[in-house]
Amino acid sequence: MSWRSYILPSRSEGMASGLPIDPYRVREDFPIFKQDKGLVYLDSTATSQKPLQVLEAVKQFYAKQNANVHRGVYGLSVEATEEYEKARRKVAELINARSPREIVFVRNTTEALNLVAYSLGLNRVRADGKVVLTVMEHHSNIVPWQIVSKHRGFRVDYVPITSDGYLDMSAVEEKLSGSDVFSFVHASNVLGTINDAKYLTRKAHEHGALAVVDAAQSVPHMPVDVQDIGCDFMAFSGHKMLGPTGIGVLYGRRELLEEMEPFMGGGEMIKEVYLDRSEWNEVPWKFEAGTPNIAGAVGLGAAVDYLKKIGLDKVRDYEHILTSKALEALSELKHVKIYGPENPRHRCGLVAFNLGDIHPHDLASYLDGFKICVRAGHHCAMPTHTWLGLTATTRASFYIYNIPDEVEVLVDALKKAAVFFKLS
Ligand code: ALA
Repeated sequence: MSWRSYILPSRSEGMASGLPIDPYRVREDFPIFKQDKGLVYLDSTATSQKPLQVLEAVKQFYAKQNANVHRGVYGLSVEATEEYEKARRKVAELINARSPREIVFVRNTTEALNLVAYSLGLNRVRADGKVVLTVMEHHSNIVPWQIVSKHRGFRVDYVPITSDGYLDMSAVEEKLSGSDVFSFVHASNVLGTINDAKYLTRKAHEHGALAVVDAAQSVPHMPVDVQDIGCDFMAFSGHKMLGPTGIGVLYGRRELLEEMEPFMGGGEMIKEVYLDRSEWNEVPWKFEAGTPNIAGAVGLGAAVDYLKKIGLDKVRDYEHILTSKALEALSELKHVKIYGPENPRHRCGLVAFNLGDIHPHDLASYLDGFKICVRAGHHCAMPTHTWLGLTATTRASFYIYNIPDEVEVLVDALKKAAVFFKLS
């Protein structure tokens, strides 16, 4: 492929002044932008890029501390265990869990939500009960519940979306009536809508339901406090918050984790095994069958350090600036239709849109010709797209290493696309 890449401006004095963070300084930590100066990476909602600090932490672990955890009595294994458990403490602090014992390491948000769906769905949700989701869920917060409901027979119901891209709050009470679990997304990966997790949790509890929060798009981008929200479970992924792939987190209130049945069986998650029965390990290890992604957890710990040093409040403020700029610039373009709330304060750092009748896959391929990386398709949220009356959208998403000029680069390329695809 021949690239027609834009030359992004390099840092000049005062360029980042007035911004909550200095993205030019941040970019210096990310080797991928050094290797390719023309790369316009607008797909952090799918996965984020990784800073040197994370890469180095993973490398150092494998080079100097690698051993299995919780098994060996020798020094190296004890050290590896300490590194793994240190990462758990960092994650617990980040989201203000009461104890690291409330943090279960899993592969990703999907696995965390499957764990909850299987464990609660098989044991706690009443066979004639109900699990409530929303129409703006990612498939990972729909499909596991559907699978388990086939075994148990409980109903799965959905809070609808309003025409302006919010949850229909007028339907919440009625939907929650008679429910056992309310599992909802904190920030939509298509509409960008940030839901009021604290309010929704309160409503769930008023109806006697447990509250599960899919925080895949919120924990990486804004301060999130599980005690303040009051939720019972929260799921998120390391790879969307500067960490490695294959490491994710399930937060669960300790008393609930204690009484829950494990999702997977094997080594590590047991206390005793007999031929006719087994006894479970303490939490959180009860849920961590098999050798975990130790280096991934260490890398996630380094990512947490990195984000905390910048400050999640500043990350949020900076993404608000980028999102506002994108919403404004895109809405001025002929043929562009943007989805989700108009008010950028109600959105996380992503914008899904369509350009005329160009198929998002064609548009994304065209943009790739300029080294602009956007996601195209249904973004693992088919029901949201069906509700929009669409099969696909194009999505640009932002993180701390994006610079405001990249919004202009995107807009300029979209203008060229409109000509190329002969939109009238
Ligand atoms: N759920 C991720 C996304 O929205 C993969 O792109």
